[in-house]
Amino acid sequence: MENRADAEPQQEQAEKKNVIPLLTPYKMGSFNLSHRIVMGPLTRQRSYNNVPQPHAILYYSQRSTKGGFLISEATGVSDTAQGFTHTPGIWTKEQVEAWKPIVDAVHAKGGIFFCQIWHVGRVSNQDFQPNGQAPISSTDKPLKPQLRANGIDLDQFTPPRQLSTDEIPQIVNDFRLAARNAIEAGFDGVEIHGAHGYLIDQFIKDQVNDRTDQYGGSLENRCRFALEIVEAISNEIGAHRVGIRLSIFADYMESGDSNPKALGLYMAESLNKYGGILYCHMVEPRMKTLGEKFDTHNSLLPMRKAFNGTFLVAGGYGNEDGNIAVVEGYADLVVYGRLFLANPDLPKRFELDAPLNKYNRDTFYIPDPVIGYTDYPFLEATS
Ligand SMILES: Cc1cc2nc3c(=O)[nH]c(=O)nc-3n(C[C@H](O)[C@H](O)[C@H](O)COP(=O)(O)O)c2cc1C
Repeated sequence: MENRADAEPQQEQAEKKNVIPLLTPYKMGSFNLSHRIVMGPLTRQRSYNNVPQPHAILYYSQRSTKGGFLISEATGVSDTAQGFTHTPGIWTKEQVEAWKPIVDAVHAKGGIFFCQIWHVGRVSNQDFQPNGQAPISSTDKPLKPQLRANGIDLDQFTPPRQLSTDEIPQIVNDFRLAARNAIEAGFDGVEIHGAHGYLIDQFIKDQVNDRTDQYGGSLENRCRFALEIVEAISNEIGAHRVGIRLSIFADYMESGDSNPKALGLYMAESLNKYGGILYCHMVEPRMKTLGEKFDTHNSLLPMRKAFNGTFLVAGGYGNEDGNIAVVEGYADLVVYGRLFLANPDLPKRFELDAPLNKYNRDTFYIPDPVIGYTDYPFLEATS
Protein backbone atom coordinates (compact mmCIF):
# COMPACT_ATOMS: atom_id res chain seq x y z
CA MET A 1 0.00 0.00 0.00
CA GLU A 2 1.13 3.48 -0.81
CA ASN A 3 2.04 5.57 2.21
CA ARG A 4 1.36 9.30 2.41
CA ALA A 5 5.03 10.24 2.25
CA ASP A 6 5.35 8.56 -1.17
CA ALA A 7 2.06 9.82 -2.50
CA GLU A 8 2.73 13.52 -1.99
CA PRO A 9 5.67 13.94 -4.34
CA GLN A 10 3.77 12.01 -7.00
CA GLN A 11 0.80 14.28 -6.62
CA GLU A 12 3.09 17.27 -6.84
CA GLN A 13 4.60 15.84 -10.00
CA ALA A 14 1.19 15.30 -11.53
CA GLU A 15 0.22 18.85 -10.73
CA LYS A 16 3.40 20.10 -12.31
CA LYS A 17 2.68 18.08 -15.42
CA ASN A 18 -0.66 19.84 -15.82
CA VAL A 19 0.78 23.29 -15.55
CA ILE A 20 0.51 25.09 -18.86
CA PRO A 21 3.53 27.39 -19.08
CA LEU A 22 1.69 30.07 -21.11
CA LEU A 23 -0.92 30.18 -18.36
CA THR A 24 1.47 30.80 -15.50
CA PRO A 25 1.61 34.25 -13.92
CA TYR A 26 4.39 36.69 -14.70
CA LYS A 27 5.38 39.95 -13.06
CA MET A 28 6.22 42.48 -15.76
CA GLY A 29 7.66 45.36 -13.77
CA SER A 30 4.79 46.60 -11.63
CA PHE A 31 2.16 44.74 -13.68
CA ASN A 32 0.95 41.41 -12.36
CA LEU A 33 0.07 39.35 -15.40
CA SER A 34 -2.02 36.24 -14.77
CA HIS A 35 -0.85 34.58 -18.00
CA ARG A 36 1.64 35.07 -20.84
CA ILE A 37 -0.61 35.08 -23.92
CA VAL A 38 -0.39 38.66 -25.18
CA MET A 39 -2.73 40.23 -27.70
CA GLY A 40 -0.44 41.74 -30.31
CA PRO A 41 -0.84 45.04 -32.13
CA LEU A 42 -3.33 44.63 -34.98
CA THR A 43 -4.27 47.40 -37.38
CA ARG A 44 -7.99 47.10 -38.13
CA GLN A 45 -8.77 50.29 -40.08
CA ARG A 46 -12.08 50.93 -38.37
CA SER A 47 -11.22 54.26 -36.73
CA TYR A 48 -13.02 56.59 -39.13
CA ASN A 49 -11.05 59.75 -39.87
CA ASN A 50 -8.36 58.62 -37.42
CA VAL A 51 -10.74 58.75 -34.44
CA PRO A 52 -11.21 55.53 -32.41
CA GLN A 53 -14.85 54.43 -32.55
CA PRO A 54 -17.27 53.02 -29.95
CA HIS A 55 -17.23 49.60 -31.70
CA ALA A 56 -13.64 49.20 -30.52
CA ILE A 57 -14.97 48.98 -26.95
CA LEU A 58 -16.53 45.61 -27.66
CA TYR A 59 -13.60 44.41 -29.80
CA TYR A 60 -10.95 45.04 -27.15
CA SER A 61 -13.08 44.02 -24.19
CA GLN A 62 -13.88 40.70 -25.90
CA ARG A 63 -10.15 40.02 -25.93
CA SER A 64 -9.47 41.18 -22.35
CA THR A 65 -8.90 38.85 -19.44
CA LYS A 66 -8.12 39.53 -15.81
CA GLY A 67 -4.37 40.06 -15.71
CA GLY A 68 -4.05 39.69 -19.50
CA PHE A 69 -1.78 42.02 -21.48
CA LEU A 70 -3.04 43.72 -24.65
CA ILE A 71 -1.23 45.98 -27.11
CA SER A 72 -3.39 48.32 -29.17
CA GLU A 73 -3.36 48.61 -32.93
CA ALA A 74 -0.75 51.02 -34.32
CA THR A 75 -1.82 54.56 -33.45
CA GLY A 76 -0.51 57.68 -35.19
CA VAL A 77 1.56 60.19 -33.24
CA SER A 78 0.87 63.21 -35.46
CA ASP A 79 -0.86 64.41 -38.63
CA THR A 80 2.14 63.33 -40.71
CA ALA A 81 2.14 59.83 -39.20
CA GLN A 82 -0.69 58.27 -41.19
CA GLY A 83 -0.49 56.12 -44.31
CA PHE A 84 -3.63 53.98 -44.26
CA THR A 85 -7.33 54.80 -44.13
CA HIS A 86 -9.15 54.80 -40.82
CA THR A 87 -6.21 54.02 -38.54
CA PRO A 88 -6.47 55.68 -35.12
CA GLY A 89 -4.41 58.58 -33.86
CA ILE A 90 -3.55 59.97 -30.46
CA TRP A 91 -2.41 63.50 -31.20
CA THR A 92 -5.72 65.40 -30.82
CA LYS A 93 -7.95 65.97 -27.81
CA GLU A 94 -10.83 64.31 -29.69
CA GLN A 95 -8.75 61.14 -30.25
CA VAL A 96 -7.65 61.02 -26.60
CA GLU A 97 -11.27 61.36 -25.45
CA ALA A 98 -12.36 58.67 -27.90
CA TRP A 99 -9.76 56.21 -26.56
CA LYS A 100 -10.92 56.64 -22.95
CA PRO A 101 -14.04 54.42 -22.98
CA ILE A 102 -12.09 51.74 -24.90
CA VAL A 103 -9.30 51.72 -22.33
CA ASP A 104 -11.86 51.77 -19.51
CA ALA A 105 -13.57 48.69 -20.94
CA VAL A 106 -10.27 46.76 -21.00
CA HIS A 107 -9.57 47.84 -17.42
CA ALA A 108 -13.08 46.84 -16.32
CA LYS A 109 -12.19 43.28 -17.37
CA GLY A 110 -8.88 43.46 -15.47
CA GLY A 111 -6.71 43.80 -18.59
CA ILE A 112 -3.44 45.72 -18.89
CA PHE A 113 -3.44 47.86 -22.01
CA PHE A 114 -0.54 49.56 -23.82
CA CYS A 115 -0.92 51.85 -26.81
CA GLN A 116 1.32 51.13 -29.79
CA ILE A 117 2.46 54.52 -31.07
CA TRP A 118 3.41 54.82 -34.70
CA HIS A 119 4.72 56.97 -37.51
CA VAL A 120 4.62 55.43 -40.98
CA GLY A 121 7.29 57.70 -42.50
CA ARG A 122 7.51 57.03 -46.24
CA VAL A 123 4.87 54.27 -46.17
CA SER A 124 2.31 56.92 -47.07
CA ASN A 125 1.20 59.13 -49.88
CA GLN A 126 0.28 62.77 -50.19
CA ASP A 127 -3.45 62.06 -49.78
CA PHE A 128 -2.78 61.20 -46.13
CA GLN A 129 -0.51 64.18 -45.52
CA PRO A 130 -1.39 67.68 -44.31
CA ASN A 131 -1.67 70.07 -47.29
CA GLY A 132 -0.86 67.20 -49.64
CA GLN A 133 2.83 67.42 -48.76
CA ALA A 134 5.36 64.63 -49.32
CA PRO A 135 5.64 62.02 -46.55
CA ILE A 136 8.71 62.39 -44.34
CA SER A 137 11.47 59.82 -43.90
CA SER A 138 15.14 59.25 -43.15
CA THR A 139 15.65 59.24 -46.91
CA ASP A 140 14.43 60.60 -50.25
CA LYS A 141 14.38 57.08 -51.67
CA PRO A 142 10.87 56.21 -52.87
CA LEU A 143 9.11 52.98 -52.07
CA LYS A 144 7.89 50.79 -54.92
CA PRO A 145 4.14 50.09 -55.04
CA GLN A 146 3.31 47.25 -52.65
CA LEU A 147 0.71 44.53 -52.92
CA ARG A 148 -2.05 44.88 -50.33
CA ALA A 149 -3.03 42.10 -47.92
CA ASN A 150 -5.81 41.08 -50.33
CA GLY A 151 -3.08 40.13 -52.82
CA ILE A 152 -4.74 42.15 -55.61
CA ASP A 153 -4.61 45.90 -55.02
CA LEU A 154 -1.44 47.92 -55.08
CA ASP A 155 -0.64 50.64 -52.57
CA GLN A 156 1.04 53.63 -54.21
CA PHE A 157 3.45 55.81 -52.28
CA THR A 158 4.51 59.40 -52.85
CA PRO A 159 8.30 59.83 -52.91
CA PRO A 160 9.31 60.95 -49.40
CA ARG A 161 11.21 64.01 -48.29
CA GLN A 162 14.30 63.41 -46.19
CA LEU A 163 14.01 65.09 -42.80
CA SER A 164 16.71 67.69 -42.20
CA THR A 165 18.81 67.18 -39.07
CA ASP A 166 17.18 70.06 -37.24
CA GLU A 167 13.65 68.77 -37.92
CA ILE A 168 14.30 65.50 -36.11
CA PRO A 169 13.77 66.79 -32.54
CA GLN A 170 10.25 67.82 -33.55
CA ILE A 171 9.40 64.25 -34.55
CA VAL A 172 10.92 62.90 -31.33
CA ASN A 173 8.73 65.41 -29.54
CA ASP A 174 5.63 64.17 -31.40
CA PHE A 175 6.32 60.68 -29.99
CA ARG A 176 6.79 62.16 -26.51
CA LEU A 177 3.49 64.02 -26.68
CA ALA A 178 1.70 60.95 -28.03
CA ALA A 179 2.98 58.94 -25.06
CA ARG A 180 1.77 61.62 -22.70
CA ASN A 181 -1.63 61.56 -24.44
CA ALA A 182 -1.77 57.77 -24.14
CA ILE A 183 -1.37 58.04 -20.39
CA GLU A 184 -3.98 60.80 -20.35
CA ALA A 185 -6.33 58.43 -22.21
CA GLY A 186 -5.80 55.88 -19.42
CA PHE A 187 -3.41 53.44 -21.13
CA ASP A 188 -1.01 51.66 -18.76
CA GLY A 189 1.93 52.40 -21.03
CA VAL A 190 3.10 52.66 -24.62
CA GLU A 191 4.80 50.41 -27.11
CA ILE A 192 6.98 52.30 -29.57
CA HIS A 193 6.45 50.83 -33.04
CA GLY A 194 10.01 50.44 -34.26
CA ALA A 195 9.23 47.58 -36.65
CA HIS A 196 7.99 46.65 -40.13
CA GLY A 197 9.59 49.31 -42.29
CA TYR A 198 7.88 52.35 -40.73
CA LEU A 199 9.63 55.59 -39.75
CA ILE A 200 11.83 54.31 -36.92
CA ASP A 201 12.82 51.25 -38.95
CA GLN A 202 13.61 53.60 -41.88
CA PHE A 203 16.30 55.12 -39.67
CA ILE A 204 17.54 51.87 -38.13
CA LYS A 205 18.01 49.79 -41.28
CA ASP A 206 20.97 50.32 -43.60
CA GLN A 207 19.00 49.36 -46.71
CA VAL A 208 16.91 52.52 -46.25
CA ASN A 209 18.95 55.03 -44.28
CA ASP A 210 21.38 56.89 -46.57
CA ARG A 211 21.96 59.92 -44.36
CA THR A 212 25.32 61.54 -43.86
CA ASP A 213 24.54 63.38 -40.59
CA GLN A 214 24.66 61.98 -37.04
CA TYR A 215 21.51 59.97 -37.80
CA GLY A 216 23.05 57.91 -40.60
CA GLY A 217 26.04 55.72 -41.37
CA SER A 218 27.25 53.77 -38.33
CA LEU A 219 25.02 51.46 -36.31
CA GLU A 220 25.19 53.92 -33.46
CA ASN A 221 24.06 56.78 -35.72
CA ARG A 222 21.24 54.82 -37.33
CA CYS A 223 19.84 53.81 -33.93
CA ARG A 224 20.12 57.35 -32.53
CA PHE A 225 16.60 58.41 -33.59
CA ALA A 226 14.97 55.34 -32.01
CA LEU A 227 16.93 55.76 -28.79
CA GLU A 228 16.18 59.48 -28.58
CA ILE A 229 12.50 58.57 -28.78
CA VAL A 230 12.93 55.94 -26.06
CA GLU A 231 14.72 58.45 -23.88
CA ALA A 232 12.21 61.26 -24.44
CA ILE A 233 9.25 59.01 -23.69
CA SER A 234 10.94 57.46 -20.66
CA ASN A 235 11.57 60.94 -19.28
CA GLU A 236 7.96 61.88 -19.96
CA ILE A 237 6.03 58.88 -18.59
CA GLY A 238 8.68 56.75 -16.84
CA ALA A 239 10.69 53.87 -18.31
CA HIS A 240 8.58 51.43 -16.27
CA ARG A 241 5.74 51.84 -18.76
CA VAL A 242 7.65 51.88 -22.04
CA GLY A 243 8.12 49.00 -24.45
CA ILE A 244 9.45 48.87 -28.00
CA ARG A 245 8.76 46.55 -30.93
CA LEU A 246 11.53 45.72 -33.40
CA SER A 247 11.66 43.46 -36.44
CA ILE A 248 15.39 43.38 -37.04
CA PHE A 249 15.32 40.44 -39.47
CA ALA A 250 12.35 41.60 -41.52
CA ASP A 251 12.46 43.47 -44.78
CA TYR A 252 8.89 44.71 -45.04
CA MET A 253 8.60 47.89 -47.09
CA GLU A 254 12.14 47.49 -48.47
CA SER A 255 13.64 47.87 -45.01
CA GLY A 256 16.24 45.13 -44.73
CA ASP A 257 19.53 45.32 -42.88
CA SER A 258 22.86 43.80 -43.83
CA ASN A 259 23.67 42.70 -40.27
CA PRO A 260 20.47 42.18 -38.30
CA LYS A 261 22.13 40.32 -35.44
CA ALA A 262 24.57 43.15 -34.71
CA LEU A 263 21.67 45.59 -34.97
CA GLY A 264 19.51 43.58 -32.57
CA LEU A 265 22.30 43.26 -30.05
CA TYR A 266 23.17 46.94 -30.21
CA MET A 267 19.52 47.89 -29.64
CA ALA A 268 19.01 45.35 -26.83
CA GLU A 269 22.10 46.60 -25.02
CA SER A 270 21.28 50.27 -25.56
CA LEU A 271 17.73 49.77 -24.30
CA ASN A 272 19.14 48.73 -20.93
CA LYS A 273 20.09 52.37 -20.44
CA TYR A 274 17.43 55.05 -19.84
CA GLY A 275 16.49 53.56 -16.49
CA GLY A 276 15.76 50.20 -18.11
CA ILE A 277 12.59 50.23 -20.18
CA LEU A 278 9.90 47.71 -19.31
CA TYR A 279 10.03 45.43 -22.31
CA CYS A 280 11.53 44.62 -25.67
CA HIS A 281 9.22 42.96 -28.18
CA MET A 282 10.88 41.26 -31.12
CA VAL A 283 9.39 39.72 -34.23
CA GLU A 284 10.78 36.36 -35.32
CA PRO A 285 12.77 36.11 -38.55
CA ARG A 286 10.34 33.42 -39.64
CA MET A 287 7.92 36.30 -40.12
CA LYS A 288 10.07 37.84 -42.86
CA THR A 289 6.88 38.54 -44.75
CA LEU A 290 3.42 37.93 -43.38
CA GLY A 291 2.46 34.30 -43.84
CA GLU A 292 5.91 32.92 -44.64
CA LYS A 293 7.26 30.73 -41.88
CA PHE A 294 10.91 29.72 -41.60
CA ASP A 295 12.41 27.42 -39.09
CA THR A 296 14.91 29.69 -37.42
CA HIS A 297 14.88 28.30 -33.93
CA ASN A 298 16.32 30.54 -31.24
CA SER A 299 17.41 33.38 -33.55
CA LEU A 300 16.38 35.95 -30.98
CA LEU A 301 18.25 34.28 -28.12
CA PRO A 302 21.29 36.61 -28.16
CA MET A 303 18.96 39.63 -27.91
CA ARG A 304 16.91 37.95 -25.20
CA LYS A 305 20.10 37.39 -23.22
CA ALA A 306 21.39 40.92 -23.76
CA PHE A 307 18.19 42.69 -22.72
CA ASN A 308 17.56 43.08 -18.97
CA GLY A 309 13.81 43.67 -19.02
CA THR A 310 10.84 41.57 -20.07
CA PHE A 311 11.27 39.91 -23.46
CA LEU A 312 8.31 39.38 -25.80
CA VAL A 313 8.39 37.34 -28.99
CA ALA A 314 5.93 37.35 -31.88
CA GLY A 315 5.46 35.80 -35.26
CA GLY A 316 3.76 32.57 -36.21
CA TYR A 317 3.36 31.18 -32.69
CA GLY A 318 0.77 28.58 -31.76
CA ASN A 319 -0.07 26.87 -28.48
CA GLU A 320 2.70 24.28 -28.57
CA ASP A 321 5.70 26.38 -29.61
CA GLY A 322 4.47 29.23 -27.40
CA ASN A 323 4.66 26.95 -24.38
CA ILE A 324 8.09 25.74 -25.43
CA ALA A 325 9.32 29.34 -25.72
CA VAL A 326 8.26 29.99 -22.12
CA VAL A 327 9.59 26.70 -20.72
CA GLU A 328 12.97 27.17 -22.38
CA GLY A 329 13.20 30.75 -21.13
CA TYR A 330 13.43 31.96 -24.72
CA ALA A 331 10.74 34.55 -23.95
CA ASP A 332 8.81 35.80 -20.96
CA LEU A 333 5.65 36.49 -22.93
CA VAL A 334 4.38 35.28 -26.30
CA VAL A 335 2.47 37.64 -28.57
CA TYR A 336 -0.36 36.41 -30.79
CA GLY A 337 -1.65 38.40 -33.73
CA ARG A 338 -3.90 36.56 -36.15
CA LEU A 339 -4.97 33.91 -33.64
CA PHE A 340 -6.11 36.57 -31.17
CA LEU A 341 -7.86 38.46 -33.93
CA ALA A 342 -9.95 35.38 -34.73
CA ASN A 343 -10.25 33.97 -31.21
CA PRO A 344 -11.40 36.53 -28.67
CA ASP A 345 -11.06 33.88 -25.94
CA LEU A 346 -7.63 32.62 -27.04
CA PRO A 347 -6.23 32.04 -23.50
CA LYS A 348 -9.27 29.92 -22.63
CA ARG A 349 -8.89 27.89 -25.84
CA PHE A 350 -5.20 27.28 -25.14
CA GLU A 351 -6.05 26.24 -21.61
CA LEU A 352 -8.56 23.67 -22.85
CA ASP A 353 -6.58 22.83 -25.98
CA ALA A 354 -9.82 23.62 -27.80
CA PRO A 355 -10.13 24.06 -31.56
CA LEU A 356 -9.43 27.54 -32.91
CA ASN A 357 -11.53 29.76 -35.19
CA LYS A 358 -9.78 30.36 -38.51
CA TYR A 359 -9.00 33.95 -39.32
CA ASN A 360 -10.44 35.47 -42.46
CA ARG A 361 -7.83 37.55 -44.25
CA ASP A 362 -10.47 39.20 -46.47
CA THR A 363 -12.00 41.01 -43.49
CA PHE A 364 -8.78 42.05 -41.71
CA TYR A 365 -8.92 45.62 -42.94
CA ILE A 366 -12.51 46.27 -44.03
CA PRO A 367 -14.13 49.26 -42.30
CA ASP A 368 -17.14 47.27 -41.06
CA PRO A 369 -17.80 47.80 -37.32
CA VAL A 370 -18.82 44.16 -36.79
CA ILE A 371 -17.87 41.80 -39.62
CA GLY A 372 -14.47 40.20 -39.17
CA TYR A 373 -14.10 42.28 -36.04
CA THR A 374 -16.46 41.49 -33.17
CA ASP A 375 -18.29 38.54 -34.75
CA TYR A 376 -15.69 35.80 -34.23
CA PRO A 377 -17.47 33.32 -31.95
CA PHE A 378 -16.49 32.47 -28.39
CA LEU A 379 -15.98 28.85 -27.42
CA GLU A 380 -19.36 28.58 -25.65
CA ALA A 381 -21.08 29.70 -28.83
CA THR A 382 -19.37 27.08 -31.00
CA SER A 383 -19.62 24.11 -28.65
C1 LIG B 1 -4.43 42.34 -39.60
C2 LIG B 1 -3.04 42.58 -39.06
C3 LIG B 1 -2.71 43.84 -38.61
C4 LIG B 1 -1.45 44.07 -38.05
N1 LIG B 1 -1.16 45.30 -37.54
C5 LIG B 1 -0.01 45.52 -36.88
C6 LIG B 1 0.24 46.75 -36.20
O1 LIG B 1 -0.60 47.65 -36.16
N2 LIG B 1 1.43 46.89 -35.58
C7 LIG B 1 2.39 45.91 -35.58
O2 LIG B 1 3.46 46.10 -34.99
N3 LIG B 1 2.16 44.73 -36.18
C8 LIG B 1 0.99 44.51 -36.81
N4 LIG B 1 0.74 43.28 -37.38
C9 LIG B 1 1.68 42.18 -37.14
C10 LIG B 1 1.20 41.36 -35.93
O3 LIG B 1 1.28 42.11 -34.73
C11 LIG B 1 2.04 40.07 -35.75
O4 LIG B 1 3.37 40.40 -35.47
C12 LIG B 1 1.98 39.20 -36.99
O5 LIG B 1 0.64 38.98 -37.38
C13 LIG B 1 2.65 37.87 -36.75
O6 LIG B 1 2.13 37.23 -35.62
P1 LIG B 1 1.00 36.07 -35.74
O7 LIG B 1 1.63 34.95 -36.51
O8 LIG B 1 0.72 35.71 -34.31
O9 LIG B 1 -0.18 36.66 -36.44
C14 LIG B 1 -0.49 43.03 -37.99
C15 LIG B 1 -0.83 41.78 -38.49
C16 LIG B 1 -2.09 41.54 -39.02
C17 LIG B 1 -2.44 40.16 -39.50
